[in-house]
Amino acid sequence: MKDMQTIFSGIQPSGILTLGNYLGAMKNFVDMQEDYDCFFCIVDQHAITVPQDRLELRKNIKSLAALYVATGIDPEKSTLFIQSEVPAHAQLGWMMQCVSYIGELERMTQFKDKSEGKEAVSSALLTYPPLMAADILLYKTDVVPVGEDQKQHLELTRNLAERFNNRYNDIFTIPEVKIAKVGARIMSLNDPTKKMSKSNPNPKSYISMLDDEKQITKKVKSAVTDSDNTVRYDTENKPGVSNLLTIYSLCSGIGISELEEKYKDTGYGPFKSDVAEAVVNVLKPIQERYEELLQSKELDDILDTGADKANFVSTKMLKKAEKAMGLGRKR
Ligand code: TYM
Repeated sequence: MKDMQTIFSGIQPSGILTLGNYLGAMKNFVDMQEDYDCFFCIVDQHAITVPQDRLELRKNIKSLAALYVATGIDPEKSTLFIQSEVPAHAQLGWMMQCVSYIGELERMTQFKDKSEGKEAVSSALLTYPPLMAADILLYKTDVVPVGEDQKQHLELTRNLAERFNNRYNDIFTIPEVKIAKVGARIMSLNDPTKKMSKSNPNPKSYISMLDDEKQITKKVKSAVTDSDNTVRYDTENKPGVSNLLTIYSLCSGIGISELEEKYKDTGYGPFKSDVAEAVVNVLKPIQERYEELLQSKELDDILDTGADKANFVSTKMLKKAEKAMGLGRKR
């Protein structure tokens, strides 16, 4: 029996992270590292399922490592590593592809969204979820904290693990998904019916974790709301205002109903100014620590130690899976 449950989660280094990534995922990672054995991964092999500029990707990997640490991931408590530095991920990923069906992969909404209307779609975009399953299953993961958009991939991971266990040998832990009650789907600022995403070409649609005070204020002030000028949480009829209330609440720690009460007679102007201020208060210290980390040698040491630990743990599970499937020689 393990004395502590294990957490695994990953983030793609495919652009500068948004406030959505922070509020929906990272912020929760930081709270969880006290109570769980945590593995946090920079999933660079997932990022190359769509074309990436080589130099940009390298920069984004380092930037993501710095952001993980700057938000409070403590390398003494958690294992932080880069996916491509731990070969067991790609190796088990292949094996998980062998237990996946094309039909179930084609049903993934992220695959449909990312491939829609495109002429050349990489086969890896389709086989992305079995790699994600491998990431998780290698560490006997009990809990996977993610935003709402990853729920379907987690359901598939559970199915693939059960299928493997039934077909070969009962070696994989079936992971639970953990989605925050508030903040699991932070919406775009200029179209609050869509999720905030770092791959959106319009920078006005998201707040980057590295935006400065001026940019944040400008973006929040121009966020799409509605014409009735009352600050009320109602995702159906007032998605823009509800999104800002969620952001404000998570950044300030003040409950949504308390915020509705505070701004009930003020209209949107003062409300938006205070939302922006709350976001700046959260991001500013993270940005300062981020800049320090980028200048230091600390990050390389953290990532080296993380890769060593992740390689040690994942190789054991990879060997078990190879044995279960009958790969290689008997030793
Ligand atoms: P990625 O890189 O798109 O996003 C990283 C995390 O941020 C969450 N997230 C959001 N949460 C709330 N509101 C939003 N607007 C928002 N946008 C993103 C995501 O849900 C995610 O938790 N496939 C994964 C990476 C991955 C992974 C894994 C995750 C690879 N292997 C194993 C968990 C376990 C992805 O593309 O996340």
